[in-house]
Amino acid sequence: MEATVYIETFGCQMNVADSERAETRLQNAGYNLTDSPALADVVLFNTCSVRERAAHKVFTRIGEVRRQRLGNEPVVGVMGCVAQLEGDTIFANSPSVNIVAGTRATDRLPVLVDRALKGDPRVIDLDERGPQDRWEVSAQSRSSKYVAFVPIIEGCNKFCTYCIVPFSRGREKSRTAAEIINEVRELRGLGYREIHLIGQNVNSYRPASDVGLEGFDGVTPFSRLMRAVAATGIERIKFTTSFPRDFHSDIVAAIDEHQNLCNWVHLPVQSGSDRILRGMRRGHTAGDYLRRIAAIKNSQRRIAITSDIIVGFPGETDEDFEATLKLVEQVEYDALYIFKYSERPGTPAANLSDNVTRQQKAERFALLEGLQKKIQRQTYRDYVGREVEVLVESHSSRTDHDLSGHSTCHKVVNFPAQSARLGEIARIRITEAKANSLYGEESARAEGEQREASEV
Ligand code: SAH
Ligand code: SF4
Ligand code: F3S
Repeated sequence: MEATVYIETFGCQMNVADSERAETRLQNAGYNLTDSPALADVVLFNTCSVRERAAHKVFTRIGEVRRQRLGNEPVVGVMGCVAQLEGDTIFANSPSVNIVAGTRATDRLPVLVDRALKGDPRVIDLDERGPQDRWEVSAQSRSSKYVAFVPIIEGCNKFCTYCIVPFSRGREKSRTAAEIINEVRELRGLGYREIHLIGQNVNSYRPASDVGLEGFDGVTPFSRLMRAVAATGIERIKFTTSFPRDFHSDIVAAIDEHQNLCNWVHLPVQSGSDRILRGMRRGHTAGDYLRRIAAIKNSQRRIAITSDIIVGFPGETDEDFEATLKLVEQVEYDALYIFKYSERPGTPAANLSDNVTRQQKAERFALLEGLQKKIQRQTYRDYVGREVEVLVESHSSRTDHDLSGHSTCHKVVNFPAQSARLGEIARIRITEAKANSLYGEESARAEGEQREASEV
């Protein structure tokens, strides 16, 4: 009988992409994937270590899954960032774990799982990617039939002082443009309507050769890649995350030239205080950042802008925090992900005294959240009466009568199901703004266009 494997994924899109890749490798090696941790022979957790709470989650989940089982113990594997960072200490702290597979061990998982199934109680692989490693993911392993993640660069060289990612993911490695473009063409052929070019910092993209980019203009390798990917004709292209220091205005120029490059940029700022930005070693000031924002706002289309902010970085004073509030007021983000500073062992900031009290962090978090809510209410209200193009991705989580998807500017849009089907792009007229989503109805014009589109 074939062994069955269950994979649970935490963390960022890179982990989602890596789990898809793991599935493909395991399937090719003859394993069956299952959605049920209670029945699987092998239970794998692809983990995240970016904040303390994220890192702890896996150990809670291991306990939960073991309690669900009726006596028989599965092979348990920890993959991803926690595995890479904690290595064999995981075996000592969690005796039920049999496999520790680091962030670059994905393609070797079939061998590692096989060894564990044959009785090896402690299988560990923290090595780099090997020469045989491939990025390919089979269509059936993809988490969505309509939106596909395409990694273009992995790892991070930036070493922001608070961040664990350069340690868990290693140095930046770009995929060749030829490989990326082939994958996008293939996805288009399979009927995918939207792709996300993903990486810790997509705009630091720097392939070893020019193959695949010949004939495409661009001031940076990333903006050349954007134009090359746009030329494949895939309907919608999004990209995340962008690093402010490397954000060249040519990215905006490329978006202006190509309708299929979507009008959304995620550009994490982390703080509005130059003093704190220096302490974080971000390599930009608030002024530098705002100049990039001005370039984005100068685009012909309205480009949605989202960001990440950390409150309570060591030494953050009320004045520093005020600067963050001011920046947020100035930019008027479409969405903001706010995090309380979490000390990560081994990072440079862990040597600073984490002197912002828990209460101060909570207060600043609430203040910033309140401000963003206020800004967002207005931004979302401005969409009422306008039309957006929505890729219909699922039935709404609230009611079966509603369909749900994302606009080109990456907002969640829900609407009552009429003629639009899953996987189609519908034109939705917005009738109502909610706190974090828009509500609307299909506009008549869209139906004819969709029929046309589906006949092509
Ligand atoms: N590469 C991206 C995202 C990295 S992780 C970037 O450079 O922006 C996603 C977000 O988690 C970060 O943007 C940051 O806001 C947050 N984060 C990272 N380390 C953190 C820490 N130690 N404590 C709190 N938030 C953190
Ligand atoms: Fe972390 Fe900074 Fe790299 Fe982003 S750029 S992953 S925040 S070190
Ligand atoms: Fe988490 Fe690793 Fe991604 S730490 S955010 S899963 S790179």
